[in-house]
Amino acid sequence: MSEPLRLGIAGLGTVGVGVVRIIRQQAALLQARTGREVVITAVSARSKDKDRGVALSDYAWENDPVALAKRNDVDVFVELMGGDAGPAKDATEAALATGKDVVTANKAMLAIHGQALAETAEAAGLVIGYEAAVAGGIPVMKALTEGLAGNEITRVMGVMNGTCNYILTQMQATRQGYNALFAEADKLGYLEADPNLDVGGIDAGHKLALLSSVAFGTVVDFDAVELEGIQNITLEDIDAAHDMGFRIKLLGVAQKTGRGLEQRMSPCLVPSNSPLGQLEGGTNMVVIEGDAVGQIVLRGAGAGEGPTASAVLSDIVDIARGVRLPTFGQPANTLTKARAAKAAVPAPYYIRMQLVDKPGALAKVAAVLGDAGVSINRMRQYDHDDTSAPVLIVTHKTSRTALDEALANMDASVVLGAPVAIRIETVD
Ligand code: HSE
Repeated sequence: MSEPLRLGIAGLGTVGVGVVRIIRQQAALLQARTGREVVITAVSARSKDKDRGVALSDYAWENDPVALAKRNDVDVFVELMGGDAGPAKDATEAALATGKDVVTANKAMLAIHGQALAETAEAAGLVIGYEAAVAGGIPVMKALTEGLAGNEITRVMGVMNGTCNYILTQMQATRQGYNALFAEADKLGYLEADPNLDVGGIDAGHKLALLSSVAFGTVVDFDAVELEGIQNITLEDIDAAHDMGFRIKLLGVAQKTGRGLEQRMSPCLVPSNSPLGQLEGGTNMVVIEGDAVGQIVLRGAGAGEGPTASAVLSDIVDIARGVRLPTFGQPANTLTKARAAKAAVPAPYYIRMQLVDKPGALAKVAAVLGDAGVSINRMRQYDHDDTSAPVLIVTHKTSRTALDEALANMDASVVLGAPVAIRIETVD
């Protein structure tokens, strides 16, 4: 029987407690699966005295995560504090400097400092596991690095922020506006300490940057992710999109194009009857397309104690078994620096505008679109109120530049206010 694998866990919030619970409750199962005992030797968190509903007295306590990371009786440093810099990064670097493997759920730290940390780890023969950082309980990093290793990946897409998907789907279900659902998500404790991480698309953007690096063999580049949050999505657009056969999702898309690597995290329309369109509430979904395998759809809980701890355990079990893969699926010094695509590949767009009720108004709109080379696929006009009517247009594929040109040239005497335009992502 091999030596026990000794863990030091920094951060005893929801996920940390979940990891302690699984290790205590599933000791026999983990030993059977890895051929060795998996034990916790020391833990660290901000407050020692807080009752976390799990027994911690068997473990040494460290107030300082860096001290925990450096302990001689720790083989694997499990970082569950969060934050892209500060104690999480300091302690991770200390762990690598003292020969520890690292398991983390910290998407922000890896999306921003992943390349440097991976190079440090690999130079020392160490691993950094972060299954829990992307889409919670969904084993998506494993799917990419192992299950789909024989594929050239053509596109990765995902709904990877449960809070945003909860807000958007509940807006439709309860007929309430964005602000009411934001307040409800807050009350339910769904929002990050900085809610902009959720609703501004940043948290999901971090996850997309990590997926993109592994999928395309490129240096992780969060700054190149085009970000747009869900703050401006209205119930009116959710309803209008539904009427045209779509749902609005905060969707991440990464794909290699002739013009560079495209990485977008933004509200998009997807067909209502597609797997992404049917995704309800706080659930996550990642869609991976590979040249040999075709399309894979992974769906599951993207957050929460059990699901996220389950993902942390998968990395711990790998290390216990001796499975040692490079951080981004291939050695960090072989990752290429991708040129960021300046503009997204052409796509159909949904346009909603308020049109003045007078002869020739619609013809003027059609002419402006036509002049910019934007072709109309479908159109719907609703009943007029006294003087105006909402018009919905679904275009054929067009570049965003051509569309923006058309929208800027709309005649203010027939189009009231600013038109809304949202990209439609083609998914089978
Ligand atoms: N706040 C995230 C979400 C979970 O709502 O999905 C952690 O990344």
